[in-house]
Amino acid sequence: MGDPAPGGGAGSDERTTAGRGAAVAGEPLLAVVDVSVAFGGVQALAGVSLAVAAGEAVGLVGPNGAGKTTLFECISGRLRPDNGRVRFAGSDLAGVPAHRRSRLGIARTFQRVEVFPELTPVEHVLVAARARQGGAMLWRDLVRRGTPRPDEVEQARAIVGMVGLAEAADVPVAALGLGHTRLVELARALASSPRLLLADEPSSGLDTTETSVIATLLRRIQRERGVAVLLVEHDLALVRRAVDRVVVLDSGHVIADGSFGQVVADPAVRRAYLGRSA
Ligand SMILES: Nc1ncnc2c1ncn2[C@@H]1O[C@H](COP(=O)(O)OP(=O)(O)OP(=O)(O)O)[C@@H](O)[C@H]1O
Ligand SMILES: [Mg+2]
Repeated sequence: MGDPAPGGGAGSDERTTAGRGAAVAGEPLLAVVDVSVAFGGVQALAGVSLAVAAGEAVGLVGPNGAGKTTLFECISGRLRPDNGRVRFAGSDLAGVPAHRRSRLGIARTFQRVEVFPELTPVEHVLVAARARQGGAMLWRDLVRRGTPRPDEVEQARAIVGMVGLAEAADVPVAALGLGHTRLVELARALASSPRLLLADEPSSGLDTTETSVIATLLRRIQRERGVAVLLVEHDLALVRRAVDRVVVLDSGHVIADGSFGQVVADPAVRRAYLGRSA
């Protein structure tokens, strides 16, 4: 694919995202431009470029070790690319730490769930919402000395309800199954009112029914809340249901970018990916 459109600069189109960087006319919400990362001798990403428009759902697929999670680390700010740029809502994110990227509107879920077993779904959302507001309260909240306001609790319950966890809202996550725990991660990601959700294998370890719940939920998050979604997923049935466009990574290179139908018919993709998993 070509280089995403250069920064539009003038003509910013500020909508409901005041204070978090305006959308820039002609530029996608997320633009990854020529990003490279090496771990010692392993070239995890080799000049990767891709773009996600505001409100768009894009799948990021590829074999194990293709570089998908590494790309998420570069976008979310846990990892600094050796080369290239990540632009979000018209700004270059170089030097912007992960917690500020979260406040700018980038949320993520993790390939291996990272939750607090003793906290309930509502408490996870409350902690995440507080973290976005300031961070200073975070550790106090974690040991439950901060008392959330009734409106904060109400908002947290609404998000927990939206992901389908109303009945488990006050149950410690340790007592929930993996399917519910993955929904807690999605609820927590939504607590920051993101404009972009990075979901790293949200159906990993789930059965068909639970995976279907995740697919439906990702579509609702995109369509009802207008959140752009970048979905890393091995389950192609979930990818087909949840996204409009698919980017295929193999050995750190983008080898295809198009509709689900286009990429699964692409001989290079079949060789690199489908041939091994199908
Ligand atoms: N922290 C690290 N240190 C060293 N090598 C790493 C590190 N993280 C990733 N790698 C290597 O970089 C390459 C890309 O890994 P990455 O985890 O991004 O792949 P992936 O596409 O997410 O794979 P999977 O589908 O298995 O999750 C792999 O060869 C991996 O072993
Ligand atoms: Mg991965």
